Amino acid sequence: MATLNQQLKVKAWPQGLPGPEHFELVEAPMPTPGDAQVLIRNLWLSIDPYYRHSLGPRFVGTTFCRPGDVMMGVTLGEVVESRDPAIPVGRHVVTLVGGMQTYTALSARDVRLIPADIFGPGKLPLSTALGVAGIPGLTAYSALMVHAKTSPGETFVVSSAGGCVGATAGQLARILGLRAVGIAGSKEKVDWVVHKAGFDACVSYKSPTFAADLAAACPNGIDVNMEHVGGEVLATVLPLMTLNSRIVISGLIDQYNRDVAPPGPNWGIIVQRQMTVSGLRVFKHFDLFPHFERLMAEKIGSQNFAYEEDIKDGLESAPMSLANVLTGANFGKSLIRVAADA
Ligand SMILES: NC(=O)c1ccc[n+]([C@@H]2O[C@H](COP(=O)([O-])OP(=O)(O)OC[C@H]3O[C@@H](n4cnc5c(N)ncnc54)[C@H](OP(=O)(O)O)[C@@H]3O)[C@@H](O)[C@H]2O)c1
Repeated sequence: MATLNQQLKVKAWPQGLPGPEHFELVEAPMPTPGDAQVLIRNLWLSIDPYYRHSLGPRFVGTTFCRPGDVMMGVTLGEVVESRDPAIPVGRHVVTLVGGMQTYTALSARDVRLIPADIFGPGKLPLSTALGVAGIPGLTAYSALMVHAKTSPGETFVVSSAGGCVGATAGQLARILGLRAVGIAGSKEKVDWVVHKAGFDACVSYKSPTFAADLAAACPNGIDVNMEHVGGEVLATVLPLMTLNSRIVISGLIDQYNRDVAPPGPNWGIIVQRQMTVSGLRVFKHFDLFPHFERLMAEKIGSQNFAYEEDIKDGLESAPMSLANVLTGANFGKSLIRVAADA
C-alpha cells in the first residue's frame, strides 16, 4: 500500500471561472482510521458543477473550502481498512465527503456501500455509480418520480440535456411515456441527444433562432421543465409553459461563476399559469437508490440507455475538468480516474 496520500488543495478562491492556478497538488502522510472509521482507497472522483459553490463565500449560501483545505469531491473507492463491521474490506463505497485525494479515512456513517450485485465486472461499470446510475442519475429520477408529477403524453423539457443529469432525465421521461425535448449548447450535443439518447427533439440555446426552435419543438407547450441553467434559457422556456405545468429547479449553472446574483426571470408567469415550482436536492432522495439502481442495471444491461463519460487521469486533471463542466467543454459525466487500475 502507498505510504503517502496525494491531495488536491485549494490554493486561492477564484473570481469567475476556476482553473488549475487555484489548486495545488501536495503529498500528505497516509490517514489512519479511528474508531468506527474506514480507510478508503479512492478509485474514481466525480466532477460536478456545484463544486463551484465551495470555492469561497457565495450568494447561494453554501459551506465552502478555505485555501489550504483539501478540495471537496464525491468519490468512489475500495475499503482497504475497516473499523466498522458493517463496511467490510474489499467492498466499494461512495462518499460525498471523500475529497480530492487518493486515500480518505472517515466515519463509516459517511459512506454508502454500492450493491455488489449491480456494479462490478460483468455488471454495470463502477464509474456509472458516480454518473448515470449514481447521484446525477438519481437527480433525474427523483425529479420525475417525486417532483414533476408527470402523465403520459406530456411534454418534458430539460436543459443541459447533453449532460449526465439531463440525458438521464430525458430518457427516463420517454420510458414514462412523455415527449422529451432537450436544450443543449453545441451541435455535437444536440445531435447526440436526439440520435443516441433518443429524445424527440433537441435545440441549441446558442442558436440565434433558439426561442423559435424551442416553440417549434414543443407545439403543445411545455408541461414539465427540469431546469439546469436559469437566465436566458429559463426566460425562453417560461412563456411556453402550459396551464398547471410544473418546473423542477435542479440547477442554475448560468449563475455559478457570478459573484453577484443576476436579475431574475419573470416569475409572474408562474402565478399566472398556476404552475408548481419545486427545488430539488438529490440528497433528500437517497431512499430511491435501490429501485433506481435496478432500473439502470436493466436498461443499460439491455443496451437501451445511452450515457457518455468524459474521463481524465490523475488528480492534477481535476481543476481543468471542473472548468470544463462550467463552460460546456465536457461531454458526458465528468470523472477523474484517481487510481490507474480503477
Ligand atoms: N438538484 C440537485 O440535487 C442536483 C444534483 C446534481 C446535479 N445538479 C445539476 O444538474 C445540472 C447538470 O449537471 P451534470 O453533472 O449533468 O453536468 P453536465 O450537464 O455534464 O455539465 C454542465 C453543463 O452545463 C452547461 N452549461 C455550462 N454553463 C452554461 C451556461 N452559462 N449556460 C447554459 N448552459 C451552460 C454545459 O452544457 P452545454 O454544452 O449544453 O452548454 C455543461 O456541459 C447542473 O446544473 C447541476 O448543478 C443538481
